[in-house]
Amino acid sequence: MNLFDFSAEREEMNRLCEEIEAHNRRYYLEDAPLISDREFDALLNRLLELERLYPEWKRADSPSQRVGGGLTERFQTVPHKRPMLSLDNTYDEADLSAFFSRTEKALGLIPELVCEPKIDGVAISLTYQNGLLVQALTRGNGTEGDDVTLNVKTIRSIPLRLLASDIPEELEVRGEIYLPKGAFERLNRTLEQQLLEKGIPPQDIQEQLYKNPRNTASGTLKLQDSAEVARRGLDAFVYFWASDNGRSPSHSENLNRLGSWGFPIPPFIKIAICLEDVISHAHTIESQRSKLPFDIDGMVLKVNGLSQQDELGFTAKSPRWAIAYKFEAEQAFTRLLSIELQVGRTGAVTPVANLAPVLLAGTTVKRASIHNADFIRELDLRPGDLVRVEKGGDIIPKITANDLSQRPTNSQPFHFPETCPECHSELRQNPGEAIRYCSNQSSCPPQLLGKLCHFVGRKAMDIQALGEKTLDLFMKELGVCQISDLYQLQPNVILALEGFQEKSVSNIIQGLEQSKQVPFDRVLFALGIRHVGETVAKTLARHFGSIDNMAQASEQDFIEVEEIGAVIAQSLLAFFADPVQQQELIKLKEAGLQFSLDPSSMKVHQGPLSGMQVVVSGSFSRWSRDEITRIVEELGAKSTGSVSSKTNLVLAGEAMGPAKRAKAEALGIPILSEQEFIQQFLS
Ligand code: IVH
Repeated sequence: MNLFDFSAEREEMNRLCEEIEAHNRRYYLEDAPLISDREFDALLNRLLELERLYPEWKRADSPSQRVGGGLTERFQTVPHKRPMLSLDNTYDEADLSAFFSRTEKALGLIPELVCEPKIDGVAISLTYQNGLLVQALTRGNGTEGDDVTLNVKTIRSIPLRLLASDIPEELEVRGEIYLPKGAFERLNRTLEQQLLEKGIPPQDIQEQLYKNPRNTASGTLKLQDSAEVARRGLDAFVYFWASDNGRSPSHSENLNRLGSWGFPIPPFIKIAICLEDVISHAHTIESQRSKLPFDIDGMVLKVNGLSQQDELGFTAKSPRWAIAYKFEAEQAFTRLLSIELQVGRTGAVTPVANLAPVLLAGTTVKRASIHNADFIRELDLRPGDLVRVEKGGDIIPKITANDLSQRPTNSQPFHFPETCPECHSELRQNPGEAIRYCSNQSSCPPQLLGKLCHFVGRKAMDIQALGEKTLDLFMKELGVCQISDLYQLQPNVILALEGFQEKSVSNIIQGLEQSKQVPFDRVLFALGIRHVGETVAKTLARHFGSIDNMAQASEQDFIEVEEIGAVIAQSLLAFFADPVQQQELIKLKEAGLQFSLDPSSMKVHQGPLSGMQVVVSGSFSRWSRDEITRIVEELGAKSTGSVSSKTNLVLAGEAMGPAKRAKAEALGIPILSEQEFIQQFLS
C-alpha cells in the first residue's frame, strides 16, 4: 500500500457528505428522520474531523457548512440579475374581485390563479450553478442586495446541491427566510434568562427582547458569525422560479419541480379558477394562521400561466400578474380586569392592563400594554370594559379599542394617580411628553433597585455574586438603600439571612472587594448618572482624569469636551450639585473605589510600532482578534478597522477578506502574515 495514498479518506468524505445531506433532507423536508440526533452528530463530527485533516478535499456542497463558523466581515453588495420587486397589496376582499376581472379582461379568458400563503419573513434570491448553491442575496433596494451566502448555507432546509437530471445550468429561485415561532420563543427565553442573571429588573426586560420573528430573521441573516446564525434555527420557503432557462409553462408546475429537487415549498397552495375558490381559500389560509409554526400575513395570488404572466407584464414596482391580500392583525375581545401601574428603573410609571385570559394568535394573552395616561383617557378605559387586543409587530399585545356598549353599568372611571404607587412621591411630566415620572430619584424602591442592578452589572462594576433577587432582599431585609451601603455590609449580617451560606457570602464580599480595583471610567458609568453611558464615561474619565476635577467643572468645561452636549452637561451639573450624591461620593471614596484614572493607563504606549496605523484582518492561530489587537497597541500602534492611505501596515491572518487585501496591495501597504509578525516584532 502506498503510504501517501489517502484516497480511502477522500472517498469516506464524499460518502459522508451524501449521507449527511440525505439525513438532513429526511429530517427537515420530510419530517421523517431515520437516525437519532446523536448518530447524526457522530457522522457530522467525523466529516468535520476529516475536513480538518484534508482541507483541500472539502467539497463546495459539504454539509459541514450547516454548522457555520465562517465570518463575514462586511457583506458585499451585489447587483441582482433580475430586479426583486414587491407585490401590490390590499386588505380589501373586494380588491380580489377587481383583480380577477381586470386579469380576465386583459387576457380575454378566465385565468387560472395560484393561491399561496404570504410568508412573513425576509425575501431571498438563491442562485445555483450546475446544481450547486453559489450565491444568496437579500432583496436590498430591489436592484442590489447583500451577499449572505455563508449564513444562508446554515439553513438546513435549503439544498446546497440539487440532485436531478433536468437541472438548468443556471437557476435562480426566490423565497422567504423566516424564523419559526418556536425558535423565536426559545431565543427570547434564553435572552430573558441572561438578562435576569445580569440583574436587569423584570419590568425592563421586555423592551430588550427580540420584537418579532420577522425582524429577528432579518437581523440574524446579517450576523457576522455564521455559527450563531446556525444556532438560531432559521428556516425557508421557496415560492418563485426567477431565471428563464428550463422553466415549465406554469408557475404551479415549476413549484412542483422545485419541490421535487428538494426545495421547501409553502403548504396550502391551491389552484383556483373562480373568485369563490380564491376567497374560500383565503379563508382557509387565514383560519390556519395561528396554528402554523411560522408567521404569515396574508395570501398571494399569482396568474399560473407564464405566457399569461408575460402578457400582463409589470408596473414600475410590481408584477401585474400577482397581488397580495393581507390579513388584518390578529385580534380578540376580552374584559379588562384591572390597570396596574409599574415603576421602572428610570422612574417612568407605565400602565399595564390585566386581562381575562384570551386566545390570540395561538397564545393565551393575560396582559397588554397601555401606552400612557393620555391613552387611558382617549379610550376612557375602565376596569370591567370589553376591550379589543391586537397582536401587531410587538411581542406584547396592545389594546386598540374599547366597546363602550358592553360597559358594566356600575363602572368607575380610572384616575391616574398624582403620586408614585411605590413611594408616594409626586409624579412629574416632561413638557411635551406623555410619560409620568416619579420625582424621587434617591429613595423610590424600584428606582433604587434599578440603580443597584446597574451598578453591579457586567459592564459596570461586574459583581457577579450580586443579582437582582439578592439586591432586592438586601433592600428589604438589611435596609440597603444606597450604593455605598453595599460596602458597609458585614458577612455575619448577610449570613443571618435565609438561604445564604458561607460560600455565597464570601463570594459577595470578595466581589465587592475586587470591585475596588475597577478603573475610574467604569465606576463613573456604574454611578448611573443620567445620559452618561459607557462611551461618555470613558470620554469624561480621559478628559478630566478624576471625579474631583469633574465636580469642579462648569457647564462650559463639560461642553468643550468632544461629544458632550448641553443635555449631558446639565445632567452632570445636577448630579454634582445634589447633596445626597455628594455624601454618596464621599462614602464611596472612603470605601476605596477608584475615582481617578491610573496614570499608567493614560500614557500612550511607546514601542516599535509607535505612531503607526495598523489594520488587523482575518483570524490568527495563536490569538483571538481582541488579543492580537491589544498586542499591536502595546507595541505602540493605533489599530483601525479599514485599510486607507493612512494605514502603515496590515496584519493578515487566515481568510483575510480578498477585497481588503487587494486594496492594501493597490496602496502598496506592507502585509505581514502571523508568522512574519512574530519574527519581526515578538522574537
Ligand atoms: S412572490 C415577483 N410569493 O412578500 C413576485 N412573495 O410584498 C415575487 N412573500 O417581497 C414575490 N410570501 O418577500 C411571493 N408566496 C409568496 C410570498 C411572497 C411572502 C413576500 C416577498 C415579497 C413580498 C411582497
